[in-house]
Amino acid sequence: MFDPGDPAFLDDPYPEFARLRAQAPVHQHDGLGLAIAVSHAAASAVLRHRGLGRIWTDASPAEQFVSFNLLHRNSLLENEPPVHTRLRRSISSAFGRGHVERLRPTVAKLADELVTGLVNDIAAHGSADLLEALAQPLPVAVISELLDVPEADRPRLVPWSNAIVKMYEYGLPESGRVAAEHAATEFVAFLRELAGRRRREPGADLITDLLHADLSEDEVVATAVLLLMAGHEATVNVIGNGVRALLRHPDQWHRLREDPGLMPTAVEELIRFDAPLQLFERTATEDVEIAGFRVARGEKIAALLGAAARDPEVFADPDTLDVGRTEGTHLGFGAGIHYCIGAPLARIEIGAALSALVRRLPELRLAAEPRRRPEFVIRGLRNLPVTA
Ligand code: HEM
Repeated sequence: MFDPGDPAFLDDPYPEFARLRAQAPVHQHDGLGLAIAVSHAAASAVLRHRGLGRIWTDASPAEQFVSFNLLHRNSLLENEPPVHTRLRRSISSAFGRGHVERLRPTVAKLADELVTGLVNDIAAHGSADLLEALAQPLPVAVISELLDVPEADRPRLVPWSNAIVKMYEYGLPESGRVAAEHAATEFVAFLRELAGRRRREPGADLITDLLHADLSEDEVVATAVLLLMAGHEATVNVIGNGVRALLRHPDQWHRLREDPGLMPTAVEELIRFDAPLQLFERTATEDVEIAGFRVARGEKIAALLGAAARDPEVFADPDTLDVGRTEGTHLGFGAGIHYCIGAPLARIEIGAALSALVRRLPELRLAAEPRRRPEFVIRGLRNLPVTA
């Protein structure tokens, strides 16, 4: 069974997923200490089954993880109904399709400005890092606008978020755990201060909205932090992994360039082809059976989204990148009650980034082999050197 820390596995986990899927839809992974669903049907069942929930257990020792635990205990992602329902309702209209559709021109303008920076960097230095110039700043700017995070504070969000999400990986060393709590403490303090300011001086932003919803102060802080983290951690990697995939399959890059009408299917295909979020855990609240595999009450099972995304039962030639693919529905945004609330916004951001790239840098190509981040659950690149 795969080792999530093995660089060869991380480089290309898909052959191992195919091998496992050919044997059975669900396996016990002793190293991870849980069952893993690797077929599309089984992963989908894990996400939708009402006997499987996101049941939060505090990181321990509790006194070492006060802020980290506060953020997660009060997060809608880590709760089930009725708490989940109440917390999700507080932000659902802000992220509804109609609402985010109005952001499309602003997002397109932002993407265009960032691509101008990329064009200038390439002209000045011969190559540039697309992750740093576009993939990272675009989603951070968009979610920061929605919460009206002051411009000067925005550079702090990414390091905080990156440190906290390392806790979702397996086998994190003690130094990483310390860094995660440190980041959580600073993030909580920052949000408490910002929420206090908005309470005194309300604005037309999401933090002000949260203060008027039926939420405790800790829930306001946790929801705002969740949005600031979820708002960019996955999107940056779809743009990074996606552009890398397109540049390694120039025929697909050319196809998209010649026919930008393919943008909607291309966005879905890039999320499917190299999933930015590989795994989500659930805990059984009763004895459950998934594809014939028994999960006893209290035990865990994970949906392997990266494996589900290459299931030949759902996607013809699943290892082929096809920007015009229409068949099959990927699980990249999850399924069931925790289905990604940011999906409409993420689609607009990824589409805007790709549109600006094909238009402004039609001859884009890799300048060097990108370096990969050494994590499994959040799959992404460290850099993406490009030239044109
Ligand atoms: C392409 C980018 C994105 C991907 C692939 C993605 C993926 C996901 C997935 C798979 C889940 C479900 C987790 C589970 O079932 O355990 C989720 C939940 C969530 N996502 Fe996203 N996401 C993306 C972008 C965003 C953005 C831009 C935002 C915020 C504006 C966001 C906010 C959330 C929130 C708040 C939840 C929790 C929903 C709940 O628990 O009810 N995501 N996302």
